[in-house]
Amino acid sequence: MPLNVHNNAHRDAILNLMTMAECDCQSLEQAIAALYWLGQTRDLPGAVVEFGAAFGNMSRLFSAFTDKTVHIYDSFKGLPPKTTFDGDSPNYVEGTFREANIPTLLDRFSRHGVKLPTLHPGFFEDLSPDDMPAAISFVHFDGDFYTSTKAALKLAYPRMSPGAVWIAHDYNFEPLPGVKKAMLEFLADKPEEPLLATPWQGMFIKL
Ligand SMILES: C[S@@+](CC[C@H](N)C(=O)[O-])C[C@H]1O[C@@H](n2cnc3c(N)ncnc32)[C@H](O)[C@@H]1O
Repeated sequence: MPLNVHNNAHRDAILNLMTMAECDCQSLEQAIAALYWLGQTRDLPGAVVEFGAAFGNMSRLFSAFTDKTVHIYDSFKGLPPKTTFDGDSPNYVEGTFREANIPTLLDRFSRHGVKLPTLHPGFFEDLSPDDMPAAISFVHFDGDFYTSTKAALKLAYPRMSPGAVWIAHDYNFEPLPGVKKAMLEFLADKPEEPLLATPWQGMFIKL
């Protein structure tokens, strides 16, 4: 059954799933918006991708709501060095999230009974298009920094099927200004229009 975000039973199911999946770092509204677009893109060719997964809170939800393979991209060494475009929040610096690790991520997927993801450890900046699925239908970006956003867009954009959706977490999150700047710069010479999925999440639909 397609996900209907106006259906209270579906909202309750998502809330329960988030609680079970220990999704304490994401708001319900942002998760629902991401799951809504995951549902809207389910008949498109291509895989589901998350850039910046840490322990996989969001990607576990994606795995629960799609039959497709979920591809996870993360350094599993934390954030890379920040640039002057990334603000000066002490909460987001090189190495933040370094505690995220593959065994714990896989254990949480298994414990919650969802299909295991395909993992691509490494910094986005060091990956090539060959590291991406041949086609992509949905991207959730949660990589926090300017260079991370630019690198992920460069990797994913050419592989996104027409109609595929890119959603960026933290697009309108003041402590992480690099995400929006990178997305707007990247789209400046592209036909796709930057949109909001919620007041906090930026998105575009591939033409
Ligand atoms: C906010 S956390 C992700 C949270 C996750 N989406 C969730 O559902 O809990 C950001 C993650 O992005 C990863 N990351 C950020 N920039 C990266 C880069 N350039 N290359 C690889 N990983 C990166 C970090 O390692 C970190 O695990």
